[in-house]
Parts: sequence; structure tokens; C-alpha cells
Amino acid sequence: MKRLAQMPVKPHPAKFTNTHLEEIVKILGGSRELNVLDPFAGVGTIHNLPYFTRGLELEPEWADQHHATIVGDALDTGFDNECFDAVVTSPCFGNRMADSFKAKDDSKRHTYHHYLGRPPSKGSSAIMQWGKEYKEFHRKAWLEAKRVLVLEGKLIINIKDHIRNGEIQPVTKWHIETCLDIGLKMEGEVSIPVGGLTHGENYEKRIPHESLLVFSKKVALEDSIS
Ligand SMILES: C[S@@+](CC[C@H](N)C(=O)[O-])C[C@H]1O[C@@H](n2cnc3c(N)ncnc32)[C@H](O)[C@@H]1O
Repeated sequence: MKRLAQMPVKPHPAKFTNTHLEEIVKILGGSRELNVLDPFAGVGTIHNLPYFTRGLELEPEWADQHHATIVGDALDTGFDNECFDAVVTSPCFGNRMADSFKAKDDSKRHTYHHYLGRPPSKGSSAIMQWGKEYKEFHRKAWLEAKRVLVLEGKLIINIKDHIRNGEIQPVTKWHIETCLDIGLKMEGEVSIPVGGLTHGENYEKRIPHESLLVFSKKVALEDSIS
């Protein structure tokens, strides 16, 4: 995909925090030899981890903020089968940050569209609200992650539920069930407290934590007995 020349640095609304990175290191351990992919890399916070990291990001304005991130699509990464020890990523959460309209009200501007200053690109999950399209997209993303993982490699997904029409939307549960359904093994879940409010939340109704879901790619039965 073509890079845009002389682009101003665009901020990102949903970066990994140091707490996320510290927890990820606790999960993966200290080996500097690990090859790690983030297929939804944003501005490349993943590259602060002490591993060999690669990032893919659909939006050039964000991908270009780190040399180890390339512009690409998480559903079709172009990497060989079984070439990463871990896939570590934060997909979009399907919440109000996916709203894609020109907000006139300053309080409603915590969206991917607003931070980019234009609508997210075709094929972006950053404009998918929690629902059928969001689920179909992420099932494909986790199948692609599984394909590029070595056997026993780990998939770590950062995710968060949200409240819509007064009800908790079970986004985290859906990602767990989908990863189990495509044959990954669940190793654990780490809760990460989050402060502040995101668009559409209020103090009574916010969900005060995100999760890091940890899966591993199981050895297929035929591999283990051959
Ligand atoms: C939650 S953000 C990740 C932020 C990142 N962890 C960081 O610290 O900067 C999710 C990212 O996925 C990107 N994205 C959405 N659809 C994509 C796709 N099909 N392929 C690659 N990236 C995509 C969005 O543009 C957004 O930057």
C-alpha cells in the first residue's frame, strides 16, 4: 500500500498503557528472542516490549509512527504459517469509539474517526459496532493469528466490555468462546483496572477494567502422535 508523504503526527485514542506492557511481559517472560506480532498495532506501542516485534496497522498515519510497523490488514497479514512465537494485540472494542460522524459536541469526540481527522479506511474494525459484522471480522482475525503462530505459541488479546442501553455487552465472553471454537486453548485472563471515562459512559455505568485474554495454539493430535 502507498505511504503518504509529509504527514503530521496523528495521536491515537486507544494505546496500550505501561500497565498493559508490564502484564504482557509477566505472561510471556523475559526471553528477548521471542518473535511477536501485533496485527492491530496503532502507533506501535507494542515495540516497547523487549522482544523482536512486528506491527501491522491499516491507517498509514498511525503505522508510520514506528519503523517496525507496516501498513497492512490484520485479516491477511502476508506472513508465513507458524512464524511468530506470540501474537499480542488490542483490537477495537466495538464501543462508541467506533461512532463515525462529525461530532459537534466536544464531549463526544473520543472516536477513531475524530482522532484520524477522516473516516477510518475501508476494511477497518474501528467503525464496527459490537454486532454481526464485528463478530465475523474478529473470527477471521483470530484464525489469521492462529495461522501465523508456532505450535504452543501464545495469542494475547486486550479487550473490554461496554454498556449499551443499560446492559453490559458481553464482548469479552464472545472473544473467549470464539478463540476456543477455532481450536485455541485458554491459558488465563488478567484484569487491568482502567481509570477515566470513555465516550458514552458515566460513573455509575462504566466498566472499570479491561482484560488480557491468554490463549495458546494447541499441538494437533496427529502432530503429537507422529
Ligand atoms: C485499539 S487500537 C490498537 C492501538 C495499539 N495497541 C497502540 O498501542 O497504539 C486498534 C487498531 O486497529 C486498527 N485496525 C482496524 N482495522 C484494521 C485492520 N483490518 N487491519 C489492521 N489494523 C486495523 C485501527 O486503525 C486501530 O489503530
